[in-house]
Amino acid sequence: MASKKIITVFGATGAQGGGLVRSILNDKSGEFAARAVTRDIRSDKAKDLAALGAELVEGDVDDPVSVDKALEGAYGAYFVTFFWNHFSPEKEIEQALTFANAAKKAGIKHAIWSTLEDTREFVPLHDDRMPTLKEKYKVPHFDAKGAADKFFVEAGVPTTFLYPSFYWENFIYFGAGPKKAADGKLHLTLPIGDAKMGGIAAEDIGKSAYGIFKNGKKFIGKKVGLAGGQLTGEEMASELSKALGQPVIYNKIPAHVYRSFDFPGADDLGNMFQFYDDFEDQVNELRDVSASKDLNPELQSFPEWLKENAKLIPVD
Ligand SMILES: NC(=O)c1ccc[n+]([C@@H]2O[C@H](COP(=O)([O-])OP(=O)(O)OC[C@H]3O[C@@H](n4cnc5c(N)ncnc54)[C@H](OP(=O)(O)O)[C@@H]3O)[C@@H](O)[C@H]2O)c1
Repeated sequence: MASKKIITVFGATGAQGGGLVRSILNDKSGEFAARAVTRDIRSDKAKDLAALGAELVEGDVDDPVSVDKALEGAYGAYFVTFFWNHFSPEKEIEQALTFANAAKKAGIKHAIWSTLEDTREFVPLHDDRMPTLKEKYKVPHFDAKGAADKFFVEAGVPTTFLYPSFYWENFIYFGAGPKKAADGKLHLTLPIGDAKMGGIAAEDIGKSAYGIFKNGKKFIGKKVGLAGGQLTGEEMASELSKALGQPVIYNKIPAHVYRSFDFPGADDLGNMFQFYDDFEDQVNELRDVSASKDLNPELQSFPEWLKENAKLIPVD
């Protein structure tokens, strides 16, 4: 049997990369092998991936030599950065440059870069509908990724530009879920007006990325957006009500109120939600649900995701 083509996966112990590693390994007769990059091959999460059959390599995006090593002999690579670990768009830009240079050097045949829109192409810095943050960004954790797309293009790396959407897991782990309000009811507080917002089960991002690799050259040079569903705040609240067995009210607030919340990154997220609202059509057109399903037939809808995960949403 011909040897399998290696896909090096960054963020392998996390949400996006983990889904990809598991998809590759679940497809026993598939053409790819998974090389999982982690900063600690002794962690439980890393060991779990090894037990499934992944090759583990130690690597840190901030150490370009380790990135080069992780890509040696690989056919493909999944590149993702970790904004919420450091809140620095400049760091993300530097890390993306490291990825692009290393991919070029290693002769990677197909890279997937997990990017997002550079929102400044929609809302220039002088547009004061939302504040400029960190001096030169509107949505820092989007803009840096989008600005870094050019590194892959300039290096001539055959790249698919992947645009994930809001993980529904944010309702479990990121504090974005419904909260008990003074009226004793659960309130889902989001500043997205009446716009439909794309969302996805985090595991489906990696499954879809696997679909992209399986399609060979088809998606090289292309933008691919992902969503398992596009729902308004009212629709999300209604589905949450059914799944949680108690009423959830959509608390539609203005973006400036969300930005003023007292948690790190509230301003960045406030601008992001406003971007989703103001540019609903463009954002959702890119993140087409049926195209996502074509890549990943197991793609979950919000109600399907809730069936398994509602019990994990903290509601006290
Ligand atoms: N949350 C959302 O709704 C959403 C939506 C769209 C896009 N995003 C973007 O998704 C990105 C994060 O992806 P994710 O959710 O898959 O991350 P994640 O679940 O937090 O996992 C990140 C993994 O990457 C590894 N890692 C962290 N720093 C590293 C470094 N310096 N070098 C190498 N590996 C490192 C860690 O593994 P080890 O500890 O094993 O090294 C960790 O398990 C963010 O940039 C965010 O903006 C998020």
